[in-house]
Amino acid sequence: MASNPTCDLLITHGTLVQVREDVTAPVKGADMASLPVLPGAYLSITQGRISDYGPMDRLPRNLRAQQTLSAKGRFVFPSFVDSHTHLVFDQYREDEFVMKIKGATYTEIAARGGGILSSARQVQKLSEDELLERTLPRAREIIRTGTGVVEIKSGYGLTTRDELKMLRVARRIGIETPLKVKTTFLGAHAVPPGMQKADYMNLLIREMIPAVAEEKLADYIDVFCEAGFFTPDETIQLAEAGKQYGLQPRLHANQLGRSGGVQAGVKTAALSVDHLEHLGDEEITLLKKSATMPTALPGAAFFLRLPQAPGRQIIDAGLPLAIASDFNPGSCPTGNMPLIIALACIQMKITPEEAINAATVNTAFSLQLSHEYGSIARGRVASLFITQPIPSVAYIPYAFGYNPVDTVILNGKVIPAG
Ligand code: NIG
Ligand code: FE
Repeated sequence: MASNPTCDLLITHGTLVQVREDVTAPVKGADMASLPVLPGAYLSITQGRISDYGPMDRLPRNLRAQQTLSAKGRFVFPSFVDSHTHLVFDQYREDEFVMKIKGATYTEIAARGGGILSSARQVQKLSEDELLERTLPRAREIIRTGTGVVEIKSGYGLTTRDELKMLRVARRIGIETPLKVKTTFLGAHAVPPGMQKADYMNLLIREMIPAVAEEKLADYIDVFCEAGFFTPDETIQLAEAGKQYGLQPRLHANQLGRSGGVQAGVKTAALSVDHLEHLGDEEITLLKKSATMPTALPGAAFFLRLPQAPGRQIIDAGLPLAIASDFNPGSCPTGNMPLIIALACIQMKITPEEAINAATVNTAFSLQLSHEYGSIARGRVASLFITQPIPSVAYIPYAFGYNPVDTVILNGKVIPAG
């Protein structure tokens, strides 16, 4: 006689959110308004993966579970996929925050040696282990607000030694915590003081990119394409150099002005162009002819009092939209994705369903992980969270500042609070 079926963890009586079998393309345009949910459902987990799910009346009677959790009155989400962060840094920069309140601009602070360069000076002083110790609490913090997958950039090293150190720390976050980590080399974040741009470009192309590739420390390459940082031509040159070493581009584009970053991204077939606070019809038309994911970072725009990326217009143009946190000490000192989703809804006028699609399937797609993360289907990695008892999905962005995440499950394991 066949033995009873078993699973490691069984969730019962919950409303499953973002149930999608087909994730071969991003969700775009009018389709972003639908968020597939399955109320009154069970979900079983075996060996870290979703083994089955369905309505409660189809729950196999003889299923034996090691552990069972009731999700009655609660929602079961796939973990948020945060596709843009600078999680590895030393200190926060609240001193600059106060300077800005008193009238200084981001560009002025950068010109006075603040901003990215001050974070770089701090990172350069720390050992790899010390930098890991500084970063781990932030990794634990984002786990508690529902993030299960995170992209982490370098860019506060600005020397070969320190950029490699940052990327090693980013990789170690994926080993020391249950987060799934993708890493991006952002040596082209700023030109180090005392160095000519052309010399730094040479260093990036001849030394840093090959060294990063040699140690397999990065999955992607990024460039801060903005006036005063890197031009579109330099961005294209760096992106192409990265591609020769297998690093596909994902770019910082159009944050402080219409920098030509979107054009550079489309031209180099970037996986995503991020920020987009300054976007015109020309950029939208170009994006429509490309596979590059427009990614808004509503927390950074809010914090810097910049215009929000035109998320509503992007979706209405039939494009996909992704949203991410940009967690960093200078322009978004939080990686709280429920809050980022709230900002997206409130300030870009996108619906809760659109924002949740933007922060799960679409970010997973831009990180080339949609077959494993960002949605619920059999075989996907069981990185999920169960919400507090809440009345609806819309309650999440509505109750901005509230953490709707109760139980966190990563790779099939319940993560104890604290
Ligand atoms: O994405 N724009 C460039 N990089 C970060 C800010 C970095 C910093 O100020 O430390 C951003 O906003
Ligand atoms: Fe950024």
